[in-house]
Amino acid sequence: MAKAATTKTDPGHAPMPAAAGANAPRPGNGAHKGSLIVVGTGIRTVGHLTMEAVAWIKQADKVLHVVGDPVAELMLKELNPNGAESMTGMYAEGKPRIDTYNQMVERTLECVRAGMLTCMACYGHPGVFVYPSHESIRRARAEGYSARMLPGISSEDCLFADLGVDPGISGCQSYEATDFLLNGRVIDPTSSVVLWQIGVVGDATFKPLGYDLSAMPLLVERLLAIYPATHPMYLYEAAVFHGCEPVIRQITAHELAYGPLSAGYTLYIPPAYQSTSDPTTYYRMNAMIAANKAATGAAIG
Ligand SMILES: C[S@@+](CC[C@H](N)C(=O)[O-])C[C@H]1O[C@@H](n2cnc3c(N)ncnc32)[C@H](O)[C@@H]1O
Repeated sequence: MAKAATTKTDPGHAPMPAAAGANAPRPGNGAHKGSLIVVGTGIRTVGHLTMEAVAWIKQADKVLHVVGDPVAELMLKELNPNGAESMTGMYAEGKPRIDTYNQMVERTLECVRAGMLTCMACYGHPGVFVYPSHESIRRARAEGYSARMLPGISSEDCLFADLGVDPGISGCQSYEATDFLLNGRVIDPTSSVVLWQIGVVGDATFKPLGYDLSAMPLLVERLLAIYPATHPMYLYEAAVFHGCEPVIRQITAHELAYGPLSAGYTLYIPPAYQSTSDPTTYYRMNAMIAANKAATGAAIG
């Protein structure tokens, strides 16, 4: 692939690949050299990586990545042979994930502070259920460095496509499964619901060979207090490799308690009930529109 037509200069003065254009990292206070651009590689990197992200990856001095599949890692290495550096080795069996995330933030800031145009590349959308990306940007800006994030294709985007769900029809609530359990989140069962990290619920550590799902009965109990026992739900895993099919398993809430779940699963719950319309607001809305039309007509006339 052709190299992006750019020159790398002081990042405080927005040294941008031509393709990046208006999405240059936002200057912090412009006081320091070094900058941060956070990109997403999508779920199927080969098809989902945007041209904008490619331009940044090629241009960066350092590409710190957490992509988790060998094809994506290889692609990043090909795009930036000298700068690509995996951070997935920071995970370790039984280690609290928050410790790993903080280590990733530290490594990222280390590169920015060393004056590098630093690219953090995360799979999916880099700002969706990703702590180190937001935290690195927040800290880089606080220290006066230029930092910004580009969007990517998330697993929820793939879910909408693969399950044929339009969130505009009934609305869509999205929660992290453990957060949903612990923080009294309120579900509207007339709307679609997406529960992320269903396969690691209750376990804050990293476990490559299967998470401790002892707390799953609590989630089942909560769901059964909201939905009929027979209500269909879908365990979903988007295909990571081109040419593969997604995993879509229809289950009921009870079945969540059986069997191992992949850490890559997301739970989709379709609406269980029809929403009820609000006639009072409907009439008030129409009355306001009619009044505005009358007033505007009167003014013109
Ligand atoms: C830490 S979050 C990262 C999400 C990612 N940033 C994104 O944009 O999709 C991990 C969770 O994302 C969801 N996820 C990741 N990969 C997935 C896939 N291939 N299919 C479905 N859901 C996935 C799962 O809920 C998983 O537990």
